[in-house]
This record gives sequence, C-alpha cells and structure tokens, in this order.
Amino acid sequence: MKSVNPLLGRTLAVADDLSVDEQRYLYRKTRALKEAWANGGDLEPYRIRDPELGVYLMFLEDSTRTKESFRNAASFHDVKLNVFDASTSSFTKSESLVDTVKMLFGYSRRSIFVMRTKMEGVCRALEEQIGAYADRLGRERPVFINGGDGRHEHPTQEYLDQFTFLEQKNWDESYLHVALIGDLHHGRTIHSKADGLKAFRSVKVDLVAPEELSLPTSYKLRMMDNGFEVREWASIDEYLSAGDVSDTWYFTRLQLERMGDEVRERETELRRAVTFRDQFLDRLPEMTRFFHPLPRHREKPVIPSFLDTTTLNGWDEQSINGYFTRIIELAMVAGRLGEDFRGESPAEDEDDESFITEIPVTRKTDVKDRFKVGIKPVTAGTVIDHIAKGKPEEEIWNRVDKVRRTLKLNVRSSHGVFHTNNPEEFKGIVSLPDILEISHTELKKLAAVSPECTLNIIRDSSVIKKYRLSMPPKIYKFSEISCKNPECVTFPGAYQHVQPFFYRTGGETFTCRYCGKRHAYGDIWDI
Ligand code: CP
Repeated sequence: MKSVNPLLGRTLAVADDLSVDEQRYLYRKTRALKEAWANGGDLEPYRIRDPELGVYLMFLEDSTRTKESFRNAASFHDVKLNVFDASTSSFTKSESLVDTVKMLFGYSRRSIFVMRTKMEGVCRALEEQIGAYADRLGRERPVFINGGDGRHEHPTQEYLDQFTFLEQKNWDESYLHVALIGDLHHGRTIHSKADGLKAFRSVKVDLVAPEELSLPTSYKLRMMDNGFEVREWASIDEYLSAGDVSDTWYFTRLQLERMGDEVRERETELRRAVTFRDQFLDRLPEMTRFFHPLPRHREKPVIPSFLDTTTLNGWDEQSINGYFTRIIELAMVAGRLGEDFRGESPAEDEDDESFITEIPVTRKTDVKDRFKVGIKPVTAGTVIDHIAKGKPEEEIWNRVDKVRRTLKLNVRSSHGVFHTNNPEEFKGIVSLPDILEISHTELKKLAAVSPECTLNIIRDSSVIKKYRLSMPPKIYKFSEISCKNPECVTFPGAYQHVQPFFYRTGGETFTCRYCGKRHAYGDIWDI
C-alpha cells in the first residue's frame, strides 16, 4: 500500500526529485520554521525525535557548509547522528561503498544517508541497490540525499538558493531574473538550477562566463526545455554594457583544479572576466543582491571582501538558510512533515510500450516476391526489414551487424543492404528462417538497436504478423551500451557494477539516469 505521506522515504539525488509543488511546500515550512526560531516560537512540530533514526554523513570529498549544516540540522532533530570519517576508515583501502553503506544501514532501524562524492549518480545507484537489499530484509528503505556529486548536481544547495531568492523577492513566485556568473561549466549548484528554477513561474537566466567556463549545452537545453529565457555574455563588463541587467546575481567559484593546463595558464584573464570590481558598482540596478554558495577564494574571491558590509551581501543570509532548509528536508523525508502536503508529486516512471505497434496484415504477401533480390526467400521464419532505411550504406551495414550481434542471432540467415522502392534509397534486411517466434523482450531490444524497422513473422510463405518499431523511451539492460562520462557511477571500474540506463529526452537524445549526461542515440552504443 502506498504511504499517505508522499514525502516519506524520498531520495533527493537531483533537484527534480521534488516536484515544484513539493519544493514550494519545503519553502513554506522553512519560512515558518525560521520565523518560529527567530521569535522564540514552538519548534517541536518540526522535530523528528527518533533515537532509532540514523543520519549518516558520508562526505567522501571535502565540505564545510553542507556537512556542518546537515550535522546541525540532524542534531536539532534529536536523532542518531553519525559522521563517517572516510579519511581514517578502511574506505581508503578500496573498500566497496555499497558494503560500507549496507553495514551502516544495519545499525539503525531507519536511516538517512547524506552523501558527497566525486562520482556522479551515486545516490540514485545506492537508492536502487540498498533499497533492494532492504526489501530482501523486509526493512524500511533508506533515504539518500545528494550533498554534491562531482560536476553533476547539488539539490539541497539548490533548494536553499531558491528559498533565499524567494525570501529576497518577498515570496513572489511569479518571476525571477537571475544572472549566473563564474564557473558555470563545473559548478554543480548551477547545474541543479536547470530544473530547480522551475519553482518560479517565469524565469530569465543570464549566463555570464567566458567560453572555457560556459554552461554545458545539455544544461542550457534543459533550461530552454523548461521554458526559461536564456541569454549569454562572456564577462561581467559585457553584461553590464548590454542593459536589462538582473538584480539577482549568483556567483560561483572557479574550479581550476578540475581544468587542464591550457585553461589554468589563462587563470588571470578568466578570473577577471567573472570577478566583480568597484568600478562596476554604479552600473548595477537598484536593490541588487549578490549570492554565492561559498566557499569564496581566500585571496582572489569573485565577490571581493569590500562588499561584505554593503547591501549587496545576500550570501551570508543564504548560508544561514542552509541550516533551516536542511532541517525541513530531513523532517520531510523522515515523514515528520508531509501529511498536510497537497499538490503533485513527480510522475511515476511508467512503462510506455507505444514504440511497438502491431500492424494489421491486410493481405497475404508473397514473400518470395518481396524478399527475392539477393536474399534467400523464407517460407517460414522472421524477416527484419527497413533497417536504418534512408541512411548511408555504411551506416546500414553497421546497423545490420549491430542487430545480429546484440540480439545474438547466431543462426542460419541471409542479410544485406538493398534498395527500397526508391532506387536512390537503401535499407537493411535480415532474413531468419530458424526464428519462428519472437518474444516481447526481444522486440523491445530490436526497437532499441534499430528503431524504425519492421519485423515480419512468416508462415507458408505469407506474412502472418507484422510489427513496426520506433525509438523506445528507455534503453537499458544491454551489455553493449555505456555512459560516456568517466565520472559516472556506471563507468566501468568507477563504483560497483551499476548497469547503464538511458531515458530518451527528446528526438534522438538519451540522458543517463545516473549522471544526467546527454548523449546522441549513436553515442550510447559501444558497437
Ligand atoms: N556550498 C557548498 O556546497 O559548500 P561546501 O563545499 O562547504 O559544502
């Protein structure tokens, strides 16, 4: 039976793991908590108070704000707080992360893991793997909260940023015009904004970064898919000269340690392009506020320290908000809050099978006539037709080969590349006299390997069943696919055997379920 509290037990791996309605609920509760805290009000309605709830902080990369705000938030809740020290544990001896999490999971009746990792997509993978382990034991599934995974996402930073923007806008959700400035390429707090900014009904985003630090195209496309207006400049100076400047500036630090020597050699120039200078002050709109997820660089901050005592300083309050938003996040996923939530939750991941269509066979087709050119006629069997129709001949041959290998068609067959009815156009055909039936799973596989082909089942030289296949919404369970992001949790050797899984995200684009990297259809295949 489904829980009456839709927020209980929810993993927060990416910003989109909370629907817009759920995020707004988080912001309303945080606002109420913050006001109660400031005014000496009753904080008990927010407190979990469960000594058998283990909150494990597993920071496998450095952190100050995320770790300390979660540590303080967990202490507020009066739960069992564990701070896992990766540097002094056997984890440094290549111990398996899954085994370590399993062990900690065994120490509490209920558990929440807050994770920071270099690998991308770890929380989603753990949600699946430890979730299945909990199911086998008949125990409550643990929650995983992503405290920043590589260059991928930092959803709880995003929620605190949104909360801060709303606070600054006097809780007006109708419109946000924000400038994102700095290292947009590596900044995971920026990447989480591609979905997180949906909390505002209308959004204009100004991207300010030199090319080397610019936002990856996949996030830009996601912003546009979400209906944001997106504009770009290479430096703060250029941005200020363009007019229509935002009053909400969000800076991020330069992560030069993640860049190659060529880029690092240009550090001074790149830093200058995204560093605020005093001569810009009188070009800012009235009431402008600056934000920064922190840390700032000690010697060369993009927001210089002389601005700390000015009205531009929104980052100090932003940093304090980390405590309040994280108290509410823990209360939500632990089920302390959420029963009064009304609104939409993220859609369930349902199976859509419309990419397989059975076409009525209206007329008995003479197979000998249809497949006679250069291919052995079949009286009974299966013929896969229209493979990579209209593509260049080399690509059709590759696809024919891919069909044969991925479906393991190691049986008698004839195959080749032929004209369609149009003499200028080609297609592939594979004719299989030994295959008399095809399972639904194989049809799904064939659609993934060769979308837009048809499959004919033949008896007594006539087609008795025909299917038209198109691009499926998901591609997974193939040993021949892989995510091409070396930091992805699915990358061989990166973690612990996580099978690649892609969602179709428009046209022939597929996005990795774990690290969010977008791929062209052809790029997900290794053959
Ligand atoms: N903003 C942020 O993630 O800071 P830490 O790296 O200190 O956690």
